[in-house]
Amino acid sequence: MKFNKICVLGLGYIGLPTASTFAAHGIPVVGVDVNPRVLETLRRGEVHIQEPGLHAAAEAALRSGMLTVAEKPVEADAFIIAVPTPFHDDKFGEQDGRKYKLADMRAVASAAEAIVPVLRKGNLVVLESTSPPRTTLDLLVPILEKSGLRAGRDFFLAYSPERVLPGQIMRELVENARVIGGITPESAQAGRDLYAVFVKGQIILSDATTAEMVKLMENTYRDINIAIANEFSRLAERFGVDVWEAVSIANLHPRVKILSPGPGVGGHCISVDPWFFVETAPDLANLIYAARTVNDAQPGYALELIKKAAGSLKGKKIAALGLAFKPDVDDLRESPAAEVAHLLLKEGAIVKAFEPFKPEGLPGIACVPTLAAALKDADAVVLLVNHTELRALTPEKLAAMTPARILVDMVNGWAGKDWAGAGFKIFRLGVRK
Ligand SMILES: NC(=O)c1ccc[n+]([C@@H]2O[C@H](COP(=O)([O-])OP(=O)(O)OC[C@H]3O[C@@H](n4cnc5c(N)ncnc54)[C@H](O)[C@@H]3O)[C@@H](O)[C@H]2O)c1
Repeated sequence: MKFNKICVLGLGYIGLPTASTFAAHGIPVVGVDVNPRVLETLRRGEVHIQEPGLHAAAEAALRSGMLTVAEKPVEADAFIIAVPTPFHDDKFGEQDGRKYKLADMRAVASAAEAIVPVLRKGNLVVLESTSPPRTTLDLLVPILEKSGLRAGRDFFLAYSPERVLPGQIMRELVENARVIGGITPESAQAGRDLYAVFVKGQIILSDATTAEMVKLMENTYRDINIAIANEFSRLAERFGVDVWEAVSIANLHPRVKILSPGPGVGGHCISVDPWFFVETAPDLANLIYAARTVNDAQPGYALELIKKAAGSLKGKKIAALGLAFKPDVDDLRESPAAEVAHLLLKEGAIVKAFEPFKPEGLPGIACVPTLAAALKDADAVVLLVNHTELRALTPEKLAAMTPARILVDMVNGWAGKDWAGAGFKIFRLGVRK
C-alpha cells in the first residue's frame, strides 16, 4: 500500500514523534489534537514536549510544511490514533471485595468518531494507544463502521502498540521491534507497509488482540517484578538486612535479575496498564492485582520511613528532591514521588519540592525552582528520584547547602558516601536503622 498522506490523532509523547518521523521520511502528515494550546504552540513552530531530539525533528517537519496541524482529521490514506488511555479517577470496578481501576477510553472513542466522516474505502486505521484486550474489535470496529464501510473488507484496521522509552523515543521509534496486529491478515500487511517507511527494527505481524495483549504483558511483567523488589525492601527492613546488598548478590545468579525497589511505580504505562487486565478479567488476574496493590501502597510505606527518620511531620520543613516518575525524565504522570509529596503535605509537613527537569513542578505541591531554595531551611531532606544531578550531591556540598542533618534516601542514590562524616544521619529504604 502507498501512503500519500497520513493523519495522526493525538500530538503527545507518542503522536508528535511519530508524526515528525513520517514527515521526515517524505510523507505529508496532518497532526490532530483537541487541545488548542498544543495546536497554537505547534503553529508557532514550537514544541510543547521535552524529549531529546524531538524539538529538532518536529520543528524541521513544521518548517518544511510536511507536518501541519488541525483541529479535526482530514481525508488521508492512513489514520494513527495515539491519544491517552488513563483510568477513571472517579469510577471503579469491584469483584469479591477487590476494588479495581477502570480504563477511560473516551479519548480513543472520540478520536475514532472524528475519523468516521473522512474514512474512505481502502484507508488504514491504526490504534497505537495502550488499550484493554479486544478494544480494536469491540470498541473501534463498531464506531468506524458508522461510516457505512466494513472493517477488514472496505478499510484496513490494525493495532500496533508503542513500546518506546521516554528519553529515547526518537531512536527507539525507529529501532525497536514493532508488532502489528491486524483484524485481518491484509490489515496487518497494510500496517507493515506503513511502518516500514521508517522502522528499522523487526516488524512482526499478528492479530489485533494478540498485539494488545503483548503490550499489556510487557508492562505487567515489569510491574510485578518491581512489586517483588518493593516487597523485598519491606522484608529486608523487618529482618535487619540491606536490601540493596542482598539484591546485588542475588543478581550474581545467572538466572536472577531482581529490579530496584523505590517509592512506588509510576508513569503513564506500568502503573496503568496492568489494571486493563484486572478490569477485563478480574476473576483471573490475581497476581497482577496483588502486584498493583503492593506498588500502589509503596508511597505510604515511604512516608512511614520519613516519619521514622524525622519524627512527627507537623510543621516540619521537608525538602523533597525529585518528582518525576523515574530518573532523568521530566514526566510527572502517576509519579510515586509526587504521591509521597502529597502524603507529606497531608501529614502537615511544609514541603519544598524540587524537580530539576520540570522546575515549575505540579499544581498542589509547593515547588521551588532551585535545589538551593528547597534545601536552605529544611529540617530533613528526602531523595525521591535517582536523577543524576541529585545522586551526584556529595556530603560536603549538601552540608553547605542545608541546615538539615536528617536524610532519607528512597532510591539508593546516596549509598557509599560518608554522610556520617559530614554530620548527617541517613535513613535508606530497605535498610533497617
Ligand atoms: N508516553 C509514553 O512513553 C508511551 C509509551 C508507550 C505507549 N504509550 C501510550 O500511547 C498513548 C498516548 O500517550 P502519550 O504519552 O502520547 O499521551 P499524551 O498525553 O502525551 O498525548 C496525547 C495527546 O492526545 C490529545 N488528545 C486527547 N484526546 C484526543 C482526541 N480525541 N483527538 C485528538 N487528540 C486527542 C491530547 O490533547 C494530547 O495532546 C497512551 O495510550 C499511552 O498509554 C505512551
